Amino acid sequence: MRIWIVGKEGLLARALAKACQQRGLEFFATGQKEADVARIETLEPFAWGATHIINCSAYTNVDLAEKEVAKAYAINADGPANLAKVARGKLLHVSTDYVFDGKQEQPYIETDPCNPLSVYGKSKRAGEEKLLAQMPDACIVRTSWLFGEGGKSFISMMLRLMQTQSELKVAGDQVGSPTFADDLVNALLDLLDHRGLFHYTNGGALTRYQIAEEMLRASARAGLPLRCEKLIAAPFVAIAERPPYSVLDIKKVEQTLGRPCRDWKEAIKEHVNNAL
Ligand SMILES: NC(=O)c1ccc[n+]([C@@H]2O[C@H](COP(=O)([O-])OP(=O)(O)OC[C@H]3O[C@@H](n4cnc5c(N)ncnc54)[C@H](OP(=O)(O)O)[C@@H]3O)[C@@H](O)[C@H]2O)c1
Repeated sequence: MRIWIVGKEGLLARALAKACQQRGLEFFATGQKEADVARIETLEPFAWGATHIINCSAYTNVDLAEKEVAKAYAINADGPANLAKVARGKLLHVSTDYVFDGKQEQPYIETDPCNPLSVYGKSKRAGEEKLLAQMPDACIVRTSWLFGEGGKSFISMMLRLMQTQSELKVAGDQVGSPTFADDLVNALLDLLDHRGLFHYTNGGALTRYQIAEEMLRASARAGLPLRCEKLIAAPFVAIAERPPYSVLDIKKVEQTLGRPCRDWKEAIKEHVNNAL
């Protein structure tokens, strides 16, 4: 087995490379400069050397995607299909809860109809469809609210702001599930030889405000010095529309892996302790 990690500078890719090292798995990783998923000719030379491809690359700026539509589609919609065209073995692709519109009031299962609201969500959904048309036995793992070491995430941003600001406004009107990159990458590695769609997040459904509350508690318990003393629940304001409810049902992946997805509080506790 030799894994090719695509999009090596990203939050997920870095956690994945660490997990491969820890498991003693043979792998190599490429960034956009060497292997640009939007340009198939740059992918071909790397495909020969891989039995498995894990696509961690994506255009992830949800708000800017509303303006840079063509770029978002080239990376998120054409990229996965380009990888499928050059793949010599299995391909695992990562997608998002933003393929749903959030109008449902119970967790989304893999077969629920998609209705993305934003260009980012639409381009990611197009990527799933194009990939499956090209490679029907590909594996796609949808995740949500990713956080981890390095990279940009709501939780890392909160942790930084909590160290400098005494009062913070946090969205209290969006419900979802955070996902610790270290947990997700272990699931990805265990799903490498599977096919079809899976949902993977940490266990729990909550608002960003509730996450921030727990971060304050976890930081206090861990002795992390924070300036923040007050959280104010506020409406979520952004350029691109987000689903108000995007909890993913994780029963299928739990059954497949034969283990429960870790509870979100445990994952946040570990992340905060790592930040010490
Ligand atoms: N972050 C979340 O909250 C979240 C939630 C749900 C799903 N996801 C999905 O999870 C996956 C990983 O996300 P992430 O948070 O790790 O993203 P990230 O930190 O933004 O990393 C994405 C990586 O893709 C690279 N990339 C962009 N365009 C590329 C191209 N044309 N060719 C090759 N590489 C390219 C970027 O390189 P540059 O830095 O050079 O641009 C970046 O290193 C994505 O599929 C994302 O849609 C993320």
